[in-house]
Amino acid sequence: VSLKPYNSFGFDVSARYFAVLDSAEQLNDVREFVQTHNIPVLFIGGGSNLVLVADLDLLVVVNRIRGLQISDNPDGSVSVTAGGGEEWHPFVRWTLEQGVYGLENLSLIPGTVGAAPIQNIGAYGVEIKDRMQSLEAFDLETGDRVVFTSADCQFDYRDSIFKSRFPGRYLITAVTFTLSREFNPVLHYGGIAGQLTDLGITMPEPLQLSDLICEVRNSKLPQPEQLGNAGSFFKNPVISESQAGQLKQDFPGLVVFADKPGYYKLAAGWLIDQLGWKGRTQGDAGVYEKQALVLVNHGNATGADIIELAGAIQADVYKQFGVMLEIEPRCYP
Ligand code: EPU
Repeated sequence: VSLKPYNSFGFDVSARYFAVLDSAEQLNDVREFVQTHNIPVLFIGGGSNLVLVADLDLLVVVNRIRGLQISDNPDGSVSVTAGGGEEWHPFVRWTLEQGVYGLENLSLIPGTVGAAPIQNIGAYGVEIKDRMQSLEAFDLETGDRVVFTSADCQFDYRDSIFKSRFPGRYLITAVTFTLSREFNPVLHYGGIAGQLTDLGITMPEPLQLSDLICEVRNSKLPQPEQLGNAGSFFKNPVISESQAGQLKQDFPGLVVFADKPGYYKLAAGWLIDQLGWKGRTQGDAGVYEKQALVLVNHGNATGADIIELAGAIQADVYKQFGVMLEIEPRCYP
């Protein structure tokens, strides 16, 4: 089966076996199949954080498990549960329409609810870990249904145990969020605060804030349907205070933010941009013209072409700044 429609880069690689999952009941069949054929599994949602480099000798399972539930808790908070196969952005809009707030800054992120915790999606000052209560997963090794609390997931910047420790072991069937009927917007992120000031708005309405986030994203990030991409291709590197101080001295324009105590986070987009990569291409693989952190497929690039371009960028950034950029999406095989 060609995976071209199932990955946001639009790479035309094939999977040896392929299944679309509509309900959690089918997971036992998946497990049996995998054990009989002794092959690994790749679970995918929207395929929007994947680099498929070559044909895959495994079973690809697309998560389409739907379902939305909402319940008010005695303490005034609201628990919202969504099936892992629900599309993320429509889910966010649905919560806002229900008068339930907390996810607005994560508007327009491509992909599905079940994929969101894997890389702890984040944008404009909010990460999913700040809003997630628990998730339900199917353990392919034991066949058990397991509940993970937010703490169990060991969330970190664009990371969780599902990405770093147990890739291919758990399929996330549902995610529960703790949200609120009170609107407490997070407005501090540079790009957002600036836009609000320009518009003369001090306190946006929830849907207005979501729309604004969509506008900001659209101005910087290509729509995967129009131009294949996987969002930010590298993580923003976290470096020590002393290294940050040295770099700031050498490069006064350096864009750097305070991170956990003693550490600073660099804007990788700025580093790449400084070296003149924005808008450059190698064949059909390119650096997006409006955001240097995003690599794009102009048509017939392969995953290998993108990885090669990424390697050239990594080498250049390392040579100039002494910082090694880490690739953010998951690469297969
Ligand atoms: N910058 C440049 N040139 C560029 C790109 C960025 O100079 O070509 C500088 C700008 O000064 C800008 C700063 O870098 O102020 C930060 O850029 P931006 O606000 O676009 O955010 P980012 O650090 O590039 C991160 C996330 C995005 C998320 C945005 C907003 C990562 C790897 N990426 O990008 O997440 O949407 O912040 O919160 O942390 C994703 O993970 O796929 C993703 C899109």
